[in-house]
Formats: sequence, C-alpha cells, structure tokens
Amino acid sequence: MAKGGSDRPVRVGVLGAGNVGAALVSLLLEDAAGIAARTGVRLELAAVAVGNPAKPRTGIPAELVTGDAKRLVEDPGVDVVVELVGGLEPAGTLVRSALAAGKAVVTANKELLAAEGAVLSALAADAGVDLLYEAAVAGAIPIIRPLRESLAGERVRRVMGIVNGTTNFILTRMSESHMAYADALAEAQRLGFAERDPSADVDGHDAAAKAAILASIAFRCDVHTDDVPREGITSVSPVDIAFAAQLGYTVKLLAVAERLDPPGTTARADAPPEVSVRVHPAMLPNTHPLAAVRGAFNAVFVEGAAAGELMLYGRGAGGLPTASAVLGDVVDAAHHLQAGAPARTPMRSSAHMHPADDLRCAWYLNIDVVDRPGVLAAVATVFGQHGVSIRSMEQLGMGDEARLVFLTHVARQGDVMATLDGLRKLDVVEHVGGVLRVLGDEEDR
Ligand code: HSE
Repeated sequence: MAKGGSDRPVRVGVLGAGNVGAALVSLLLEDAAGIAARTGVRLELAAVAVGNPAKPRTGIPAELVTGDAKRLVEDPGVDVVVELVGGLEPAGTLVRSALAAGKAVVTANKELLAAEGAVLSALAADAGVDLLYEAAVAGAIPIIRPLRESLAGERVRRVMGIVNGTTNFILTRMSESHMAYADALAEAQRLGFAERDPSADVDGHDAAAKAAILASIAFRCDVHTDDVPREGITSVSPVDIAFAAQLGYTVKLLAVAERLDPPGTTARADAPPEVSVRVHPAMLPNTHPLAAVRGAFNAVFVEGAAAGELMLYGRGAGGLPTASAVLGDVVDAAHHLQAGAPARTPMRSSAHMHPADDLRCAWYLNIDVVDRPGVLAAVATVFGQHGVSIRSMEQLGMGDEARLVFLTHVARQGDVMATLDGLRKLDVVEHVGGVLRVLGDEEDR
C-alpha cells in the first residue's frame, strides 16, 4: 500500500471502460505528470477491467486490460478501485469486495449509492477506507464534497437541483422553441443526450437516485431511492409551459431535498432529521438562478441557515466532465493513503420522511370549464372548501368553454389534491389540465 508518505505511486484499478472509464484512462495516462505537479500525488493506472477484453480499445494499452474484475479488486497491488460499471450488480459485489480488501473506492454509480449507500458507507467506515462519489450527482459539478466538507457545520434547509441534463434539454427546447415534447425528446435522442429508452430520465428515476444521495449528504441521514416520490416530465404540456412563461415562470424538473423538522423543535445532533426528498416538475420564477440553467446543463441550489443561497453549475454528464469529478476523488483518496490518514466517515442517522400530504407550496393549475354564469363561483367554492387560497386567476375564452388558469397561495399538498378531486366531480369542469408546484418565489423562501 502507498501509505504513510511513501513516494511509490498510488495504483488505480478501473472497473469499466465506457464513456467515463475511457475518459478517466485518458486523463490518467496523458496527464499523469500534470496531475502529479498540481497535486503532489503520483497516480499509476494498474489495470482496467472490462466485460470483453478481446475488443480492441483505442487509448487503453492492451497489457492493462483484464476481463477479471474480481481479481482486480482483490489485487494487493491496487490501492484505489474506481467503479464505473454502473447498475446494482455486479457493481455492488465488486465495490463490497474492494472495501473488504481495504481499498479506497471511488464510484459514479448513483443507482448503487441510492440503493445501498448506508451499507456501503458502513463497510467503508469499518475498513477505515474512503468511499467517494462526487461524480454520482451532477457529473463535473462539485456538490458532494462542498456539502460534506465546506458546509459541514451549516444547517442546510433545502437543496434543489437540476440534476438530469436530458430532461432539462427537453424542457428548454419546449419552452424556448415551442417544441412538442415528442419532438424535443427525438432531438435529445439524435444528439445523444437521451437513450433510445428514455424512461430513466423522463420518468425521473435518474433524478430520484441523485436526490436520495444529495439528501443523505446534506442532512447526514440515510435516504433510499424508494423514499423518493417521483414525477417525470411526460405530462408537462406546451400549454403549461406557455402559461408559465406568461406568468413569469420557467418549468424545470427539480430534485428537492428539504429539511422540515416540526416548528419549534431544535434539532438535537442525534435526532433523525425530518426530511422531504422528491422529484417533480415545478415552476420557478424567471428571476430564480435555477431558471437560467438551459439545455443539458445541471445546477444545484443550496439554501443554508447561515450561508444563505448558493448555486453550483456545470456539465452533469459526458465522459470527460464526469471523469474530472472521478479524478478529483481519486486524488483525494490517494492523499489520504499517502498521509496514512484515516478516511473521513461522515455521521449518518436514520431519516424521518415528512408526509407528502403535509408539504406546503404554491400551485399552478389550469382547468377547462363550461362558460356560463355561476361557474367561477362553483369552482372557487371548491378551493375554499379545502382551504386553498387563490392568488390569481386568468380566464381565456374558447367558444362555449373557458380555460381558467390559477395560481394559489401556499397550500398543503393534501388540500390541493382534494381540491382537484372536487373539481373533477363538478359537472361544469370539462377537464383538469396541468398541475404544477410553484417553488422559489417570495412565498416559498
Ligand atoms: N442521463 C443523465 C442525464 C446523465 O441526462 O443527466 C447520467 O446521470
């Protein structure tokens, strides 16, 4: 092992040679001297494990390629294992074996961390080694380390992220070029942002895994991907986007991790935090920093009690940007190994999930109604019955029908859902259209 100030290089074993793996290998091989000069750490690529070692790979010397991932993670000559295979298995087994063998592990595997982060963190703590995963959330953007270290003492109130570039690209095209969802998706697929099966992105699975990881780090608690309710962007219509624009808002898919301890409680250090972690589209005022995040870019907006508001912005995907974040973790792990320093193992508690019905925010909704006397009164009565206060309403005539577009004041989610049920039961309501949360304006801060 390259421990205790040895000047032997720190040897890095890489699992996976896809986009990110190949980019990392190119950085390690082509910029080794530069990395050493900038960081004081000499990194040496020990081996790259791939599924098909017979396949020729540009940029990876054949003698470094192996088909035996199991052997690589157990090899005493490897100090840091970088897992870039993705998915739950065999990645999970390989990561667990590497930690058990006393190796630092760097991974970009959001799915694995969101499902097994607590167990893997405990294994790393027991072994006294690093488990680092800056690249798992928002690619090149440093957000895990800032939350874990720079903001370690901060009482973080909320983290809101645009953490999926594909959906942000689609929503940007829908809003700026007035494209239909299907056309924007087809363009994202043509440009290589979206997969042929886009469900992981457009249904919010990818963002939900990242939300779970962000919440775990921000609130130092265990949040599992199953704890994260998720709504994707497939039901966001061009009509909603156009109304949002008229009202001064932009529609974004947000990963939200929020701390919601009951009013009056002073959270004790050992008390499980009460949190809400979720993914859904939302309307943000155009003046909100996240509203300006266009195309496939990502950004994470943090609200802290002392720090106030801050935002980190950058490329959330792609080989080199993601490899840059992985490399930062490898350097960090190598520093710890060389210094013989124990790995940092952040405290984690269980989390208490805030009931979704009790979440409070403002809402946008549009409904199509019959255009005749008394209809508005009937509709407004349903809002009133459920304690939902209307902030503004606009009516557009459409022949015998009218479209009513509402913004509410801050209301309980359960009450808004009951209002929608009530509206659907009214004879005069033809159709309940778009329903979106409104976040980030003055009522929400
Ligand atoms: N598919 C993701 C995105 C990148 O579109 O942002 C990997 O998490």
